[in-house]
Amino acid sequence: AERSSFVVVANRLPVDEVTTPEGRQWRPSPGGLVTALHPVLVRERGTWIGWAGGTGDAPEPFELEGINIHPVPLSAQELERYYEGQSNATIWPLYHDAVETPAYKRSWRETYRAVNQRFAKAAAEVAAEGAVVWVQDYQLQLVPAMLRELRPDLKIGFFLHIPFPPIELFMQMPFRTEILRGLLGADLVGFQQRLAAQNFVRLARHLLGLRYEGQMIQVDGRQVKAGAFPISIDTAQMEQLAADPAIQARAKEIRGELGNPKTVILGVDRLDYTKGIELRLKAFRELLADGKLTVPEAVMVQVATPSRERVEHYQALRVKVEREVGRINGEFGRVGVPAVHYLHQSYSRSELAALYSAADVMMVTPLRDGMNLVAKEYVASRADTGGALVLSEFAGAATELRQAFLCNPHDPEGVKEVLLRAVNIEPAEARRRIRVMQRHLRTHDVEHWARSFLNELGVPEAA
Ligand code: UDP
Ligand code: G6P
Repeated sequence: AERSSFVVVANRLPVDEVTTPEGRQWRPSPGGLVTALHPVLVRERGTWIGWAGGTGDAPEPFELEGINIHPVPLSAQELERYYEGQSNATIWPLYHDAVETPAYKRSWRETYRAVNQRFAKAAAEVAAEGAVVWVQDYQLQLVPAMLRELRPDLKIGFFLHIPFPPIELFMQMPFRTEILRGLLGADLVGFQQRLAAQNFVRLARHLLGLRYEGQMIQVDGRQVKAGAFPISIDTAQMEQLAADPAIQARAKEIRGELGNPKTVILGVDRLDYTKGIELRLKAFRELLADGKLTVPEAVMVQVATPSRERVEHYQALRVKVEREVGRINGEFGRVGVPAVHYLHQSYSRSELAALYSAADVMMVTPLRDGMNLVAKEYVASRADTGGALVLSEFAGAATELRQAFLCNPHDPEGVKEVLLRAVNIEPAEARRRIRVMQRHLRTHDVEHWARSFLNELGVPEAA
């Protein structure tokens, strides 16, 4: 195959190969990483190396919307140890403030190492002489050093989409030094937040005694730079999609299907314990119990997209969320009028745009989140209609979206107060707040994110 001068390496490809009753099909894959990187890859016309979602042999490389897709295979055992185990039962909870207890297993990290080696090898084979290789996220933290070993001629960037924990937490991890060395194989290591970048340079000194000045770390006679690059969305595309008459008609239809309530409260998340779905449902229930909100004047819609369903903490979360939904509907619903519309399904971008347009209040209440693109998508969708965003201070997005209704998800009374204020906001004030945030997102879109990172990596602007 042809070699590429711009290569992205991520655990996920933008599409999953799934088996349906109609046979094998490609379907958009979930999550913020794919949402953000897809438009960047389309513009750069590069190669995307990643896992296609199944187990066993990987499909042959192919082209999709001008992107070269290069699938990497995972066996069933690798899926269990590398993806479900080390990535999503060890690193994911640990890096999110250990909001659920991380599990540590030697066999998981050995497989993680082996799979990272496979991704590094694939990148080494695909990358042209002197190419830029941009490695993504917590599943592939060993790849930068492995790739440098194989191909010292490459320019290697790494971006972490999730938080990077403080030293005290990071030190729990049994193969912490290897992870750190893996990341230090990059020329530039990017984070969502300034604090995360600081955690990283301090860790390098703490664990390896490395010297740093500002964000520049000296390692083996090389310089590795750390920095904050808050990720974003394709704002123009989101605005356009939301303004589409078909989407607007669908939004109206959704409100009708909900019984034309005064207030539609919306949540859209992967069903993940970092997202604070339970605490949000509880806040809604208690406001109903206190008579501060009533059904059918106010209803809630919660999209909880299936995610990592074989991992224990995710199974436990599903049970808890569904119990809470049942409790609320049991107490406050009536025949034909549920209080919470709970949707354990994956939605297309257009249906989400219609839901955003239909929602008066958007609740984004994670206990910890690297960024949260859903919050940004809601803001971009709201044209001149206003709407109120309730946003956790523990989402990266809170650093930028200062006109949101910020809340501390650890303070249940506070969340209730903020939700009530958002429900009762004056429309003119809502529009004013949304407009300020929209202006920010127009200049700070995903293209700006990619450009800032690549400039810092020393990649010249494409012609
Ligand atoms: N998303 C989607 N369909 C769904 C649920 C979510 O396309 O059913 C998209 C959503 O529009 C957003 C991304 O998935 O672009 C989620 O990104 P976010 O940063 O909010 O959270 P993550 O899932 O990456 O933790
Ligand atoms: C987050 C992670 C991504 C991941 C996505 C979906 O956005 O940062 O790396 O792709 O969630 O999760 P999944 O495990 O389905 O890839």
